[in-house]
Amino acid sequence: METLLEIETAAKLCTACPLAAGRTQVVFSRGNPESDLMFVGEAPGRDEDLQGAPFVGRSGQLLDRLVAEELGRDESAFYVANVIKCRPPNNRDPLPDEVATCRHWLDEQIAFVSPRVIVTLGNFATRALLNTTEGITRLRGRTHETPGGLTVVPTYHPSAALRSGGSVVADMRADLVRAKRALAAR
Ligand code: URA
Repeated sequence: METLLEIETAAKLCTACPLAAGRTQVVFSRGNPESDLMFVGEAPGRDEDLQGAPFVGRSGQLLDRLVAEELGRDESAFYVANVIKCRPPNNRDPLPDEVATCRHWLDEQIAFVSPRVIVTLGNFATRALLNTTEGITRLRGRTHETPGGLTVVPTYHPSAALRSGGSVVADMRADLVRAKRALAAR
């Protein structure tokens, strides 16, 4: 079996979809692959494309702060990745073809890290992992077990919290507490 580093090295050479042509860097992950807690976002933005790591811009700063405050963890105690590894032009939503082509990298990451709990950030990641078209507002607020055996705690994307503030941040905090309980329960 390949190691996670071998998978990352292969991902960094990927040209399987048109997003490869527009990227500065493939954005594979940051954090600790031995952690029991994984976050999954949508796709790299500008900062991530330039720095080669997920959630390093303003959204990531908010995520890190909320995780520190609610779970007492920094990135040495969680792992972060996106569904899509290359930045879509002007941050447009990834296309179904791009998701279908890229998805195996995330599945390999999840298989390797084998987290106890996955927190999905926003509609896109939540729908991808729960295999549904339902919206985040209905999906968050509870813990889901997938047919594949994953424990998923959906929450809002931190960019929604940056846009809307107040109640979205409060809901994200409640979801992180839910993730903490799920980590402790198993
Ligand atoms: N938004 C995401 O979904 N992922 C990132 O890595 C950055 C912003």
